[in-house]
Amino acid sequence: MCGIVGYVGPGSSLEVLLGGLKRLEYRGYDSAGVAVLSPEGAIGSRKRAGKLGVLVDDLSASPIADGGTGIGHTRWATHGGPTDGNAHPHFGDDGRLALIHNGIIENFAELKAELLEAGEQFESETDTEVAALLVGRAFRETGDLTEAMRRTVERLDGAFTLLALHQDAPGVVVGARRSSPLVIGLGEGENFLGSDVAAFVEHTRRAMEIGQDQIVTIRPDSVEVIDFAGNPAEASEFEVAWDASAAEKGGWPSFMKKEIDEEPDAVANTLLGRVHDGATALTELDAVADILTDIDRVLVLGCGTAAYAGLVGKYAIEAWARIPVDVELSHEFRYRDPVLNERTLVVSVSQSGETMDTLMAVRYAREQGARTLSICNTQGATIPRESDAVLYTHAGPEVAVASTKAFVAQVTALYLLGLHLASLRGTLDAEGVAAQLAELEAVPGKIRTVVDSASARIAELAHWMSDTQSVLFLGRHVGYPVALEGALKLKELAYIHAEGFAAGELKHGPIALIEPGQIVFVVVPSPRDPSSLHKKVVSNIQEIRARGARVIAIAELGDVAVVPYADEVIRIPLAAPLFEPLLAVVPLHVFGMELATAKGLDVDQPRNLAKSVTVE
Ligand code: M6R
Repeated sequence: MCGIVGYVGPGSSLEVLLGGLKRLEYRGYDSAGVAVLSPEGAIGSRKRAGKLGVLVDDLSASPIADGGTGIGHTRWATHGGPTDGNAHPHFGDDGRLALIHNGIIENFAELKAELLEAGEQFESETDTEVAALLVGRAFRETGDLTEAMRRTVERLDGAFTLLALHQDAPGVVVGARRSSPLVIGLGEGENFLGSDVAAFVEHTRRAMEIGQDQIVTIRPDSVEVIDFAGNPAEASEFEVAWDASAAEKGGWPSFMKKEIDEEPDAVANTLLGRVHDGATALTELDAVADILTDIDRVLVLGCGTAAYAGLVGKYAIEAWARIPVDVELSHEFRYRDPVLNERTLVVSVSQSGETMDTLMAVRYAREQGARTLSICNTQGATIPRESDAVLYTHAGPEVAVASTKAFVAQVTALYLLGLHLASLRGTLDAEGVAAQLAELEAVPGKIRTVVDSASARIAELAHWMSDTQSVLFLGRHVGYPVALEGALKLKELAYIHAEGFAAGELKHGPIALIEPGQIVFVVVPSPRDPSSLHKKVVSNIQEIRARGARVIAIAELGDVAVVPYADEVIRIPLAAPLFEPLLAVVPLHVFGMELATAKGLDVDQPRNLAKSVTVE
């Protein structure tokens, strides 16, 4: 939540800042602002409520002088509504210092009272302004922006990334982080700071991650990192695995449409290099290899779509590796005194790697002695950095706020983990593992078929249903998390009531919701599955049809049993039952996007949301 960019160098800082904010806008989009130093060293600032475009228009109508040192911010409001006054930057030292912030300063009320007592005046309702005033006061005492930041962060509770510039420190931007994201971009004679690498990848792919409780000072020709105690600290360099074009819309009407189209590649790239001669090749797991045969439990943590990916993983890992798997929402896990120990492998799933609930849950698990594996899509993010091992998904940058391609990549990574565990623990023989991996490697082509064959029909259905008030989703076994994911996409994109249910739960209550005309998507298990689930779900379809539901079935090619009972059948290619989620979810992603589009909504930036939930 909130995107942050900082720049020092010979270029136009406004160009860098606005380009970076455009790429970070998915992190928050209720207001935006910049502060730059003019060639003469005076602060110029502009901030506006609304999306970034409002600020951009304002700056082109009335430009500010720009001397190559600047900070920029796009906001998701926590303290104080989305107004011009609450937008960042905020100011200290009588307007000589500008500061931007991502996170929450939990002790801001006490600090505010103290600052008021000392005669400071507040212009906003934000928690951020206390930090701006404190850094400003410390700068007056020390004349050193890094030291002023250090003295300030010592006094702050909560989670924060702060960036500041001062007009008496031209060519310097100082950043600090605690439990909120901040990465460094290394240029030639210029340097960058950003909430993630998207902020600067257009200018450089050389990046550095900095640790928890650290402060970074960038100048055009230097980068210095210290800890909050003032000791020098190491920052590790990495190369960003994708280039700026990967985060461009590139002619697509929305990022979401582009990202759904990239779902086959997200799976293929997550598998790339990790399957050799019919076996898993996961050297990334070496750091936890010593316990993989000894663990007695896997606990998967995540929020939203990531948690649903975890739920698919549970079915697969238990089936193949014969080890109990629990899946829990990170925020529920953290606060309920859970039981875990050094024989528990905690697997966190997070696209951003910055979700505060998941980060806190991972920290808690480590404190309890559990070993941690991060499944993450973002290089340099905090959760992988703080985990024992990381299995990166290679979905490429996901810009649309609602997750699509990240889901299929997360599920793929969990399948790889399940097959790896099965092989290590001897619950599947080499042939069994090879057979599953061969099936998995065929999935990207099948997803492509679904995207190409089903999208047009789903779009028609969505347009017919654009005034619908409620949609239900039913699934069973691995189809259940797919139903949950379909419902979440519809809620967050189209703002209509949507619920996902386990089909077996229907008669325990939810069937009371069925009335004539109720639209119900049903994810139908394969009739080839030796269990009797297909028959049971077809019976469920008959039960809801008898009560007037309009049924849209997602069923595999050749499944004729559903045809008499469904109003519409969306076909998916044949796949092993455990891999069906990777295919069945695609029409549901398309449906959420198309229904939102039919309602004239912004599918990339749904209301009230931000992509990376970096506050609890
Ligand atoms: O970055 P993460 O994967 O940790 O994010 C988790 C959830 O916040 C995220 O999946 C959210 O539910 C999306 N809005 C789903 O589309």
